[in-house]
Amino acid sequence: MLISLVYVSSAFHLMSEEDLLELLQAARKKNQELNITGMLLYHHGNFIQVLEGEEADVMMMEQKIKQDVRHHTMIILIKEPISERSFPDWSMGFRNIDKLSKEDREGLNDYLDLPWTLEYWSSNPSKAQKLLANFKAVLR
Ligand SMILES: Cc1cc2nc3c(=O)[nH]c(=O)nc-3n(C[C@H](O)[C@H](O)[C@H](O)COP(=O)(O)O)c2cc1C
Repeated sequence: MLISLVYVSSAFHLMSEEDLLELLQAARKKNQELNITGMLLYHHGNFIQVLEGEEADVMMMEQKIKQDVRHHTMIILIKEPISERSFPDWSMGFRNIDKLSKEDREGLNDYLDLPWTLEYWSSNPSKAQKLLANFKAVLR
């Protein structure tokens, strides 16, 4: 069974471009092996990630990510069965929102004005899901 998992978390320390690149390169390699797809966003020291794949693989990855010392307060927003993937071509799409270009910002204004705190996303999980879908559309 395919599932989708969306969570938010806070970085322990602000992540540099190099830190993020290192995290992503390892994640993409592993995700390809496990056929996990999705997207990771980073903004103001917080992460939002969607992971899609076979339930057992996604749950194993959830445990691994939860133990990662680079972040804390991992809050699961959505965990649900899906009939098909929303990010089939992305072993892990990524955007550092702090570094978006002006053109990208214009397409995403409604979302960039939101508070982007863990509290906000926890209270508005479907907004986080919409946000990820919109990023996919604008950043493709
Ligand atoms: C915010 C965040 C997102 C991550 N996403 C993934 C991911 O999608 N896939 C992955 O393999 N590792 C991801 N990681 C890294 C894992 O936590 C872990 O370091 C990696 O799976 C290697 O684990 P291993 O050395 O036990 O094999 C992420 C880490 C953080 C902090």
